[in-house]
Amino acid sequence: MSNFVGDDLTGTQGTPALDAAILREGGIAREVGRRRTFAIISHPDAGKTTLTEKLLLFGGAIQMAGTVKARKSGRHATSDWLEIEKQRGISVASSVMQFTYDDCVINLLDTPGHQDFSEDTYRVLTAVDAAVMVVDAAKGVEEQTIKLLEVCRLRNTPIITFINKMDREVRDPLEVLDEIESVLKIKCAPVTWPIGMGKRFQGVYHLLNDEVLRFLPGEAKANQDVEILKGAQIEQLAQQCPQEMKIMRDETELVAGAGASFDLQEFLRGQQTPVFFGSGINNFGVREVLRALVDWAPAPLPRETDVRVVQPTEPAFTGFVFKIQANMDPNHRDRIAFLRVCSGRYSSGMKVKHRRTGKEMKLANAVTFMANERTRMDEAYAGDIIGVHNHGQLQIGDVLTEGEALIFKGIPYFAPELFSRARLRDPMKAKQLQKGLRQLGEEGAVQVFEPLLDTNPLIGAVGQLQFEVVEHRLKSEYGVDAVFERAGIHTARWVTCPDIAHLNEFVKANQSRLARDADGNYAYLADTGVNLRLAQERWPKVQFHATREHGQRL
Ligand code: G4P
Repeated sequence: MSNFVGDDLTGTQGTPALDAAILREGGIAREVGRRRTFAIISHPDAGKTTLTEKLLLFGGAIQMAGTVKARKSGRHATSDWLEIEKQRGISVASSVMQFTYDDCVINLLDTPGHQDFSEDTYRVLTAVDAAVMVVDAAKGVEEQTIKLLEVCRLRNTPIITFINKMDREVRDPLEVLDEIESVLKIKCAPVTWPIGMGKRFQGVYHLLNDEVLRFLPGEAKANQDVEILKGAQIEQLAQQCPQEMKIMRDETELVAGAGASFDLQEFLRGQQTPVFFGSGINNFGVREVLRALVDWAPAPLPRETDVRVVQPTEPAFTGFVFKIQANMDPNHRDRIAFLRVCSGRYSSGMKVKHRRTGKEMKLANAVTFMANERTRMDEAYAGDIIGVHNHGQLQIGDVLTEGEALIFKGIPYFAPELFSRARLRDPMKAKQLQKGLRQLGEEGAVQVFEPLLDTNPLIGAVGQLQFEVVEHRLKSEYGVDAVFERAGIHTARWVTCPDIAHLNEFVKANQSRLARDADGNYAYLADTGVNLRLAQERWPKVQFHATREHGQRL
């Protein structure tokens, strides 16, 4: 008898099974290698929607400019809930778009741009392997970008930077890069450099390929190859626009002198970002971003769990829910759980185990989305996002596997910054209110806290609009007419202490300021920043956390 594991199977009915397993794993590895899953992050108005649309055009996923834009401005006003979106002219919903480019399957996760929905945006970022950061060249680094980058930092997500709107009079590119480096604390490695700007924008110089990509304004050029100048042609351009070319040469020399050249490993570690300049609206520079995604962004990465690291090429299926969305379509009053596949292969009709409840679930008719249309999905691999219909059984952070019990790490809850109490107009509806809030809390629409000394729950959110959506949904889905009134709370911190006796002492002394979250964890509710600081000083052994993981008992 030899010690080879495979020997057990040789000469038995195991051989074909083993062969099939090897084939399956090889097939999975091939599919995983083709996947790129990313999100676009930006401050509102920097050009995220425009870039999304152009990426989809290049990927052949949409035929016509305007499709995504129409979604943003609220074409699906048929749903009551989405009426809010229309009124505000913002995108409350976020969804997933899949397209192929150069044999890569690209999953683009849309994130709501409005700051009121940053909590949702944060969670989408837990499901991606890379991000494209869009910066408005005239404005530089803006507030929302800072917050989003902080979240990417939690997982060292590789970032590709697109500096947009070069067709306008914008800021000095060196200054913008300086700002990115100093404010966002990430090193910049320019891959392209602008030649002029605004009316005098000539194109970009590609530092790695030593060529010039000529800018031609106009959306009609969408599917045309960009004009590329090399060698003598570049010199000709230098004669046509000597000033712009000289500035570009001086600046790229400066950049090269500062040693800011692209390093794939540093990019993959999230320490350096390749920078591209362009103009989304004119389709310029978009293809280079897409190439960077295909060539440099990582294929789906291994994911940490509470028991072990899951490799994306493992044959057994695993995945986690990072987003729940209700009312995506007014004709289907169900909820869709967005699940990031982490390993194995999804096939329609497969049976999986729901880790939290231990129950078996059949995964049939999973969907993917294109603009606002659903498409049935027959198979999916690590990196893909599948939409699973359900009626409340799935919560954020839930894990589905082919049997193994594990929990994926790194799906955070963020400490709310706004708190309200729901006041019922009809006191008979208390039960429905409770049910509604619990379900909406599970969806991640808001966070619900139960104060230790009060039966009236506190509702926490990162942005005001979350309250408006919940108020609206309580009425239309649960028949509850409630108004939200501000509670005088500044922020919350989850509290832990390894010394249980000490924790109990803390709880006893601070009962009026403590609440339990949906998972039973203690949260300290501070009415001012000063109050929080004082509590931290007074109780140095107690830890105050601004984030916690989904499903985690602290
Ligand atoms: P967002 O999703 O990040 O909020 O930004 P969005 O793409 O909607 O773009 C915000 C505005 O910036 C839009 O103008 C858009 O047309 C414009 N824009 C995007 N990319 C470029 C670019 O490369 N150059 C210039 N000059 N403008 C750009 P808007 O007036 O708000 O909307 P619209 O009337 O053009 O639709």
